[in-house]
Amino acid sequence: MASATFLILVAAASLLASFAQADLQYGYYNTTCPGVEELVRTELEAIFADDNTLRAGLLRLHFHDCFVRGCDASLMLNSHNGTAEKHADPNLTVRGYEAIEAIKKVVEKACPLVVSCADIMAMAARDAINFVRTSCCY
Ligand SMILES: *[C@@H]1O[C@H](CO)[C@@H](O)[C@H](O)[C@H]1NC(C)=O
Ligand SMILES: *[C@@H]1O[C@H](CO)[C@@H](O)[C@H](O)[C@H]1NC(C)=O
Ligand SMILES: *[C@@H]1O[C@H](CO)[C@@H](O)[C@H](O)[C@H]1NC(C)=O
Repeated sequence: MASATFLILVAAASLLASFAQADLQYGYYNTTCPGVEELVRTELEAIFADDNTLRAGLLRLHFHDCFVRGCDASLMLNSHNGTAEKHADPNLTVRGYEAIEAIKKVVEKACPLVVSCADIMAMAARDAINFVRTSCCY
């Protein structure tokens, strides 16, 4: 079970890597929002302490977000008439919207209007994988 979960995570991560490859840069926010990576990581630690299953949930959220025109956080959008991406059938088991919103709120306080939801989602997915890798086993 654990190894099956791991394989799925690895497969999803490789797929994500092929989507994301082009524009990701380590330390992109070095000057515009220094410390954002630690901020996100600290928030995630609290979130995962509260709900361990969100590690996989946040990777999956990012994965689903990437389906429609790239990894742009469009999955986070709400609609007044139920036609937003998040209202499509596959959304029913996608979780973690609140986690991204909570992290975004904290990041906005530190650096208003600098770090996008899309980047927070990408950092969260990356860190979720890293936490699984470094703190093995349920
Ligand atoms: C940000 O800082 C890290 C650590 O000093 C460095 O490795 C990285 O190249 C920097 N990235 C940018 C875009 O400045
Ligand atoms: C839903 O709302 C959006 C934005 O207002 C609009 O573009 C779209 O046509 C609407 N779709 C339906 C099915 O009403
Ligand atoms: C997912 O879609 C269903 C059906 O349209 C909707 O009722 C539900 O609120 C959506 N979930 C989220 C998190 O938006």
